[in-house]
Amino acid sequence: MGRINVLDENMVNMIAAGEVIERPASVVKELLENSIDAGAKKITVSIEDGGRRLISVIDDGEGMAQEDLAGAFEPHATSKIRLRSDLEHISTMGFRGEALASVAAVAQVRAVSKMKDSPEAYRIDIDCGKKAQPAPCSADYGTTIEVRDLFYKLPARRKFLRTANTEMTHIIEHFTRIALAHCSLDMTLIHNGRELYRLLDGQSRTERIAKLFSTQIAEGLLVAEGNERGLEISGLLGRPETARANSKFQHFFLNQRFIRDKFISHAIKEAYRGIIEPSKYPVVFLFLQMPCESYDVNVHPTKIEVRFDNANLVHSQILAVVRQKLLSQNLDAPAQMPHPGESVAPDKEAVQHSEIRRQRIAEAMADFFKEHRPIQTQQQLGFAPPSAKVARASSPWKRKDGESRPGWPCHGDDRATTPFGEAGQTDAPRQFLQLHNSYIVSQIDDGFIVIDQHALHERIIYEDLCRRIATGTAGKLTSQRLLIPETIELTDAQVETLRTNAELFEKLGIELEPFGPKTIAIQALPSLLAKVSPAEFVQELFDLLTEKAVKLDRERLLHEVLEMAACKAAIKAGQKLTDGEIEKLLAERQVINRASQCPHGRPTTIKFSLSELEKQFKRK
Ligand SMILES: Nc1ncnc2c1ncn2[C@@H]1O[C@H](COP(=O)(O)OP(=O)(O)O)[C@@H](O)[C@H]1O
Ligand SMILES: [Mg+2]
Repeated sequence: MGRINVLDENMVNMIAAGEVIERPASVVKELLENSIDAGAKKITVSIEDGGRRLISVIDDGEGMAQEDLAGAFEPHATSKIRLRSDLEHISTMGFRGEALASVAAVAQVRAVSKMKDSPEAYRIDIDCGKKAQPAPCSADYGTTIEVRDLFYKLPARRKFLRTANTEMTHIIEHFTRIALAHCSLDMTLIHNGRELYRLLDGQSRTERIAKLFSTQIAEGLLVAEGNERGLEISGLLGRPETARANSKFQHFFLNQRFIRDKFISHAIKEAYRGIIEPSKYPVVFLFLQMPCESYDVNVHPTKIEVRFDNANLVHSQILAVVRQKLLSQNLDAPAQMPHPGESVAPDKEAVQHSEIRRQRIAEAMADFFKEHRPIQTQQQLGFAPPSAKVARASSPWKRKDGESRPGWPCHGDDRATTPFGEAGQTDAPRQFLQLHNSYIVSQIDDGFIVIDQHALHERIIYEDLCRRIATGTAGKLTSQRLLIPETIELTDAQVETLRTNAELFEKLGIELEPFGPKTIAIQALPSLLAKVSPAEFVQELFDLLTEKAVKLDRERLLHEVLEMAACKAAIKAGQKLTDGEIEKLLAERQVINRASQCPHGRPTTIKFSLSELEKQFKRK
């Protein structure tokens, strides 16, 4: 006798449920999507015990007729597609006709529905696939679906459910995705009788982000827009300092459907490259609109992946829109000071990071003030400020015009006499001082900035290198011949590296000539690297190429090399700078791209605003 069985319908549904219904959150997602497809304006989701005991979704959509109520729970039953060709332009959230059948196969389900023009409402009960007859009942128009005791006949599946809190986290994630994509919906989420979210219709996306995430995240978002070749892009972009350790804060929507897509993720990563650290993920909310014919959503049972007809176009346009926005902004990181009434707890990593940063600056400041104690004592005792002549000799503040500002500030409220200068001046840094031979503190219009001299110089050189490669003759850096060529010995692997990357060496303007079987002489280096040790630089270049050349494409590799070169050539921490050098740094900072971060994505500049300082000093 043959061993093959054709499975009965209930088994088929239970197996399908395994794909679509992983946990309570998947039920919430499917039910919310159905309510949206039914044209609901208001949806209330009530959960008990993280969704194990009850998931209820009430909507005011178009409802179902009596004959459809039973049919809706049949497998592959849908009102959303009819013809094969319908699959090519799906504009509804659902279309597979699997969700209700799957849910009803693994739980106790009650559905109550009333169409607007129908005199009666109808109810149907289904217990793990066993369907009762629909019966009339009284109810408002719209549909209510209640799902009780999910997986109660499947102990193996139920065992995998986590604590109510964890399941709620997943439910909130799905609720959030739908709420962000549909700002015109009135949406409520209740857990164990407690209202977690009440979102009113007509809120802006930023208002919803503030409610669903935090005001901190919502406030700093940059708006990027683009509309070309049938792809409309609307993005809310997190500033670099809000970047996270994982991609949980990246939300991509395509025609109001939350999706995951590796092309989009890559475009975002590229756009933020050099602005955030490589291991971090920016906070990004991206809303895309394109004709449904240009992609296929029938790829995965949970409909979370799509296949674009032209993924390269999607990639390049997102990259262009996001990068352009980021380049047009001043992205200086604000100093992270404790907020007196702040209710949102920042994540642990961010706290540690800002703590370390704050501590370093505080130490630098403290040391500085120690060195200038006599002046400070005069202030504390309320002495008159020292005479201009004396002060000129001792003031650490340098003016950009080269003159020291007379007088250390006296205390009191008159801001005109503080080291920050008169109010209402331009935003360009004016006075500056170098602390610990590493940081430059400079006054700006509404506060002061602290610059990491190495990081900023690194960015300046990097941008210069990029520009020269892009505009130089034949895309090459100009080089300078060494008076005395330096020689280095190569390993077999390095000889091979040299052979395969000859083009790159040429682009960089590095001239190497054989000087023995395994020895080469460095004849010329890019002129921008005049100050680095040639042998050390070339040796490091070989190390980098040996490690990275196999993993990276040419373009990426070139930029890694430029980053390395910029780092080598930049002034170091601990290096005393002349006033002229500092002025030059500050001036270049004003004109280069991405001045706020070094090429590795770390901040070059931290901004302390006057209003923040006033808050911290309890002046207001
Ligand atoms: N909340 C609702 N309001 C009105 N009709 C609904 C609702 N939920 C489900 N339906 C009907 O039940 C059908 C089956 O739903 P479902 O199993 O989720 O499949 P799909 O959404 O893929 O069509 C839908 O096509 C729709 O006609
Ligand atoms: Mg559906």
